[in-house]
Amino acid sequence: MNSARKTVAESATRLNQFMNPEHANALGNVHGGVILKLCDECGGITASRHARRPAVTVAVDSMSFHEPVWVGQLLNLRGRINYVGRTSMEVEVIVETENLLTGEITHTNSAYCIYVALDDQGRPTEAPRLELTTDAERRRFEEGQERQRQRLEREGRQKKIEE
Ligand SMILES: CC(C)(COP(=O)(O)OP(=O)(O)OC[C@H]1O[C@@H](n2cnc3c(N)ncnc32)[C@H](O)[C@@H]1OP(=O)(O)O)[C@@H](O)C(=O)NCCC(=O)NCCS
Repeated sequence: MNSARKTVAESATRLNQFMNPEHANALGNVHGGVILKLCDECGGITASRHARRPAVTVAVDSMSFHEPVWVGQLLNLRGRINYVGRTSMEVEVIVETENLLTGEITHTNSAYCIYVALDDQGRPTEAPRLELTTDAERRRFEEGQERQRQRLEREGRQKKIEE
């Protein structure tokens, strides 16, 4: 039993990446797969920081593209843990673009990425409990718990999720 507790703030992660021509698709905006990869990277760092263990992606859920991202913009990604089960962690990744010349910030993407902490043998291992410090964190935890319940139901997994 992992009795450690960690706050959301302790693992919160920021990742910045300038969008160059090599990131573009044939239409001239940034390829969705590039953004997805960066989301997974940001989420994976957040989960590993929380668990202080290697963390593998087990699911990516609800990846939405609200606005196109253009070459020449700075992509700012923020990852934070919403929910921790026994070995699994749901990380919400929020993506914004920044126009470096005007300072304009646009919310372009959001994703929920789920990771599993691994032990030295590569098996799932317990992650520290989440210490919730604000009402918003408590609300996000409950919402994450419900999303995880629905994911497992879709996968046909009836395993009880951690309260
Ligand atoms: C991640 C992995 C180790 C889990 O193995 P497993 O045999 O399913 O292990 P478990 O049944 O103990 O599940 C581990 C946790 O993942 C959760 N989980 C499993 N499948 C899931 C899914 N599709 N969606 C969300 N959570 C899932 C389980 O509920 C459990 O969470 P809990 O401990 O908090 O209750 C295994 O599926 C794997 O190695 N996948 C490949 C990972 C990978 O290569 N990722 C891409 C590169 S990083």
